[in-house]
Amino acid sequence: MLADFAEVVQPGTREESLLASLVWERLPRHVAIIMDGNGRWAAQRGQPRIAGHRAGVEAVRASVDTGARLGLGALTLYAFSTENWKRPRLEVDALMRMLRRYLRLELDEIDRQNIRFQAIGRIDALAATVRREIARATERTAGNTGMVLSVALNYGGRAEILDASRDAMQRLLREGRKIEDLTEEDIAEHLYTRGLPELDLLVRTSGEMRVSNFLLWQAAYSEIYVTDTLWPDFRRLHLLEAIADFQRRDRRFGGLKLVANAK
Ligand code: IPE
Ligand code: IPE
Ligand code: MG
Repeated sequence: MLADFAEVVQPGTREESLLASLVWERLPRHVAIIMDGNGRWAAQRGQPRIAGHRAGVEAVRASVDTGARLGLGALTLYAFSTENWKRPRLEVDALMRMLRRYLRLELDEIDRQNIRFQAIGRIDALAATVRREIARATERTAGNTGMVLSVALNYGGRAEILDASRDAMQRLLREGRKIEDLTEEDIAEHLYTRGLPELDLLVRTSGEMRVSNFLLWQAAYSEIYVTDTLWPDFRRLHLLEAIADFQRRDRRFGGLKLVANAK
């Protein structure tokens, strides 16, 4: 795996030593990122918020590239929440425009890296121009077998659980089963993230200690990593630091720490 980084990581750098210290068998299978802090990044420079979003695209590129080189099973990026419609129209439009542009410009590279793209959220409510770009990227990469890149758009964790519960109930009734028969698996099978590995690591940039309606179901036992770095400054080094930190965690899932010969 280190070989996958040979062309982009310089010898003697902190990135190289982090890569060398990773335990490859214990990489997180699924990493999700709440990409936050674009507005503050711009404000610090006396620029409009939109300049922060534009700068954030480079951080998306770096994270996707790093995730693919590491061989993660899934990378899920929170790009637009069901609550972000509250923002000024100009900002919302700019975000949608940037998303379209990102997909147009990056599709070849995404495909080349064997990444399978999908959008998760209430996609039907997005503008037709955005949906078209999403459909193109999804179809073009549908046969790819590497990392699954999910971009969360008009995404809300509560909306997702509600939608999944409704769909699960409908199937249940169709199959003649009773409401008491509904299981966690029934719901999980109808989430947008069905088929993806368990969410191991949830990263948030810009120091905010909240989940802001992201992956509420999936994060039940995820490790959470918050960095003060603002999203536009986030690069390969920061993602590697998050993963190295993840590997130092003691995951118990409600049980007890595994100790050799414990009775
Ligand atoms: C994250 O940055 C991008 C989106 C939510 C779309 P913000 O725009 O939330 O930046 P801050 O949090 O105001 O700094
Ligand atoms: C969360 O960031 C949503 C995305 C990153 C897309 P917000 O900036 O919208 O969250 P709050 O308002 O700080 O909770
Ligand atoms: Mg924010």
